[in-house]
This record gives sequence, C-alpha cells and structure tokens, in this order.
Amino acid sequence: TIEVIVAREILDSRGNPTVEVEVGLDDGTVGRAAVPSGASTGAFEALELRDGDKDRYGGKGVEKAVANIEDRIVDQLIGYEASEQRLIDQKMLDIDGTDDKSELGANAILGVSLAVAKAAAKSSGLSLFRYLGGPHAHLLPVPMMNILNGGAHADSNVDVQEFMIAPIGAPTFRDALRSGAEVYHTLKSVLKKKGLSTGLGDEGGFAPDLPTNSTALDLIGEAVEKAGYRLGTDIVFALDVAATEFYSDGTYTFEGGSKTADEMTAYYHKLLDDYPIVSIEDPLAEDDWAGWTGLTSSVGERIQIVGDDLFVTNPQRIARGIAERAANAVLVKVNQIGSLTETFEAVDLAHRAGFKCMMSHRSGETEDTTIADLAVAMGCGQIKTGAPARSDRVAKYNQLLRIEEELADAARYAGASAFPRYRS
Ligand code: PGA
Ligand code: ZN
Repeated sequence: TIEVIVAREILDSRGNPTVEVEVGLDDGTVGRAAVPSGASTGAFEALELRDGDKDRYGGKGVEKAVANIEDRIVDQLIGYEASEQRLIDQKMLDIDGTDDKSELGANAILGVSLAVAKAAAKSSGLSLFRYLGGPHAHLLPVPMMNILNGGAHADSNVDVQEFMIAPIGAPTFRDALRSGAEVYHTLKSVLKKKGLSTGLGDEGGFAPDLPTNSTALDLIGEAVEKAGYRLGTDIVFALDVAATEFYSDGTYTFEGGSKTADEMTAYYHKLLDDYPIVSIEDPLAEDDWAGWTGLTSSVGERIQIVGDDLFVTNPQRIARGIAERAANAVLVKVNQIGSLTETFEAVDLAHRAGFKCMMSHRSGETEDTTIADLAVAMGCGQIKTGAPARSDRVAKYNQLLRIEEELADAARYAGASAFPRYRS
C-alpha cells in the first residue's frame, strides 16, 4: 500500500532540471524514478512542464511539476496498492483532465507512474522486468548504439541526428555490447588520424564536422572493419534522421539544398543501395503523413521505418500510422506519452499490427535505468540508449547485462531476428 510519495528537482545529463519521485510503501520498500527530457521533441508529445522563470535554470526549472505532485497527486494516491498501476495512472489522467497532460505536466505524472511500478516490483520481490513482463519475458534487445551524433544533438554541420550501429550477429547481449564498445573506440582513433574532432554530442557519440552524411557511414564502416567485425553481417547500421528538425513548409533543407519528400525518398534508396542499413527513424517530418506512406511503400519491405516524432508513443497516432501504413515500427519513449499504462498500450497496439518497437532513451537522461527493464518486459527486441560510453547511456546497457545474467539460460538475444525485413 502506498504510504508516502516524495518528489524533487534533480539534474539530467545536460545539466537541466528534471523530476525525480520516490514512492514508499507500508512494507518499507521504496521505488525511485527520474524523468528524461528530449531536445528534438515532437510537436505532438505530452507536455513537459517547465517553470518559465528565467531567473532559475534559464526558465527550465521543474518546481511547478514537483509542486503538482505534492499538492495535487500525493493525497489522491495514498492507500492504493502499488500493483494497481492502471488505476493509479488513470487516476492521475483524471486529475489532469487534458489530452496533452498540460495541467499537471507529463513529467509529474510519469515520475509517479514509473516510481509506483518500481516500488511494486521491489515489494513483490521481483526484478522490474519480471514484475512487468511476467515469467516469459526473456528477449534481450539489440543495442542500437549511437556512436556519431549530429542534428540537434551536436554543434557540427551533420544533418542526420543519429548514426547507430546494431551488432545483430552477436550471440548474446554481452557480446553485442562489447563489439559496440570496440567499434566506438576504434572510431575515435579513425577520426583522430584524419584530424577530425573527437568531441562528443549529447548521447555520447562523436560529433565531427563532415562534408556529407554518407561520410559518417564510411567512417563508421571503416571503424567496424578495423575493429575486426564484418560490416553487414556482424554489425549493421541504423539512422535517426530526425527530419522534422530541418523541415518547413513542405521542404527539407538537407545537405545544403532544398528537397521534397520524393527527393528525400530517392536519397534513402541510394543510401540503402550503398550501406547495410536496417532501420531509418524519422526519415520525414512529423506531419508529412503522405510522404511517410510513400516512403514506407517503397522501402518498407526492405528495412524498418520507425516513427518517433510521427507517433510520439501515442496510441491514437500509432493507430493512424497502422491504418495508413505510414511506417512499420514505433519508437517508444515513456515521456512522450507520460504514463506507464499508456506506454504499454502503445506497444501492444504496435505489436498486434505487426509493427516493431524500439525502446528509447531521450537525449537528456539520468542514471535511471527503467527503460532497460521495459525493453525486456515488453519484448521489444531493440533498444536505443546512446553510445556505449558515458554513464547516463551506459547505465541502461549495464542494467541489460544484469538482466541477461539473471535470466541465465532462459535469455535469448534478439540479434538479426529483430530486423526480419532487412535485405542488403
Ligand atoms: P530527443 O532525441 O530525445 O532529443 O528527442 C532522441 C530521438 O530523436 O530519438
Ligand atoms: Zn528520434
């Protein structure tokens, strides 16, 4: 039974404030969760409540969200069984009463929602992934490691936001992580040798200035091979273009020119011919539905097309995407929708339609590792949580190592089966 809820303002990986919540039960167990925060946020995301008081953290304080928890949520939830996740989440949605959680703030609601789950898991004596996923949760996701950062996550001139490596050929998660770390270190020396910057972006990947986006893939490919892995079989590529960031009035400003959705689509076809890419996220902008449907019908048989800003983990938008075949996979970010219950609903809906789900961090993260457990609990088969470096990113990968260890012989690494469409 929930006895106490405490909320506070803490710092995220970019040094910006975010919400942390602790839920205490009458048996003495405490669940703690912290809320992540995006930079290239979608327009249709649930509202992240910021104070707007320029004298504190440049307006980014979250004291209002903390106060909303203390003043408007706590009293309403005392006495609930922590295992009543759906009732608790629904209660908070009722108190909020808006579509975008702008009354209480999605950061307020999500912090409580996740902390409740963690308290309930602890109280039941189960790991979070088992508590949420049941005895059959056993699939370790492919780590989609973002080792070269551009777009809104870096100060470089590179348009594409994320260049990821996916070690699909590894036998276990542990081996996958190792290969990613080895490629990461090799990429650093490749960049250094060429006189390119080895400074880092927000998600721990390198952030050099480069002449074109495909140069990034060439450099990573070189690092993969130098590290002793086979490009296309051991390790493949994935992109997050985050195209909403460079879209306006029907035009994509990309690689120094103006492109239509059709021209972007042609560009992707060329990339797929040249590189072993299994997945492209946000290839087009968040409201360019027709462009998405066109792209998915032309390349979606070959690879995964992932909606992030397009779907914002929102079951209503995912339902539209399924009806219009606008993509074939969903990026899952708990703070885009703002509660654990709705995150489960989004993933269920996607899976039932044959869409893949990639669990995801935000560019602003904390030491919280909840998404690692969620990826296994929900059977996602894929997780992206940045480079295999920097503790805000590595904390999640490390948690997956622990989960793999706990599952022992029952663990199965998703590997290539996470990308059944992939044809090089
Ligand atoms: P964000 O970036 O957290 O800054 O939105 C991550 C992504 O676009 O996938
Ligand atoms: Zn994205």
